[in-house]
Amino acid sequence: MTKTRATIIGWGKCVPPVKLTNADLEQMVDTSDQWIVERTGMHERRISHVEVTDLAEVAAKRALASAGLEPTDIDLLVLATVTPEITLPSNACFLQERLGAVNAAAFDLNAACSGFVYSTAVASSMIEAGIAQRALVIGAEKLHFLMDYHDRNHCILFGDGAGAAIYEGRADGSGVLANDLGADGKAGQAMVSPVLGTRGQLDRPRDPASDRLHFEGKTVFKHAVRGMEGSVRRTLDEAGLSVDDVDLVVPHQANFRIIEATCNRLGVPMEKVVLNIADHGNTSAASIPMALNDALTDGRVRPGATVLFTAFGGGLTWGSNVMVWGDRIEPVATSDADLPPTDKTVFDLLETNRAFFAPFHKAGSDS
Ligand code: UT7
Repeated sequence: MTKTRATIIGWGKCVPPVKLTNADLEQMVDTSDQWIVERTGMHERRISHVEVTDLAEVAAKRALASAGLEPTDIDLLVLATVTPEITLPSNACFLQERLGAVNAAAFDLNAACSGFVYSTAVASSMIEAGIAQRALVIGAEKLHFLMDYHDRNHCILFGDGAGAAIYEGRADGSGVLANDLGADGKAGQAMVSPVLGTRGQLDRPRDPASDRLHFEGKTVFKHAVRGMEGSVRRTLDEAGLSVDDVDLVVPHQANFRIIEATCNRLGVPMEKVVLNIADHGNTSAASIPMALNDALTDGRVRPGATVLFTAFGGGLTWGSNVMVWGDRIEPVATSDADLPPTDKTVFDLLETNRAFFAPFHKAGSDS
């Protein structure tokens, strides 16, 4: 009997309308379009005027339409995010209520930029175990909340957005074949955001010196390339596949050079790699489902294709999933769900951030 596996049958993406271009960043920090493009491959990213659940909701509605499903058909909802709008209830429960997905168990999952591959591993394992039949897995981030838009070392890298995929149990040879997940908490000191959480005194005022992202980009870069290479090799080994069997790689969009270096070490030609980093920057848990959505829209996914996801991020965490694509490469229907419009500029949206962190930089403590 063919084993039941989790196959993607729907997908969706939501990007907020306001762009943060390299030219905008040149006005905020000592940087240049040339430096950013050469070192990262990024040209622009989006800055959200709404909350993370709003982004997730639109991506989810688009994925449901694409799958031809009603919210009540979903029995598992996993929302991967490192920027929840609040921590209780979970943002997944907010979303479950908004969608009317009343039959779904719902929880948030925080594995930073590896959130979507972790969530895919959880959802596919639950489907294989018979605990769930149809899982809505979303990666959604409002990362600009964690940034300091006076600090060129990190503020150029990250953007906001959401992507969603619906996994269904199928016994037709398609679906997730293998997952690999890992973490190194000791090395996690390279990327720390103390902004969201309970640490500290209840009455402590927010302080721009301490409430800011600690980020060692170079350290993470090295871990990322080695981490994703090893994770991909273990995943393919478990699935009984070789690198040459892979038709399409959808990597986490952290930095073009990280993706290129990882693919070079693995021997994956760049023609097989999905890239949207130029337009969206690093959207953490949202980056893989957003890139997958783009690959489908561009007709790059074929029925029966072997598709690989791989990611690396804060924690530190890493992971990969390999799957045989099913028969669906066109959406069943489209949704007219969209975000509310805004007339705000990117400078309006980042004004509070810049005002909050300005005293820290005036004090001459620039990192
Ligand atoms: O998804 C997981 C999270 N993502 C990451 O962790 C990203 C991983 N790291 C990276 O992508 C890269 O390490 C960065 C893009 C962050 C930095 O690139 P790099 O090639 O590692 O540059 P660097 O940190 O070695 O900096 C080189 C120089 C430095 O100046 P000096 O010391 O050589 O004078 C930096 O101060 O570039 C300077 N620099 C900048 N210059 C212009 C750093 N940021 C900027 C900037 N614009 N935005």
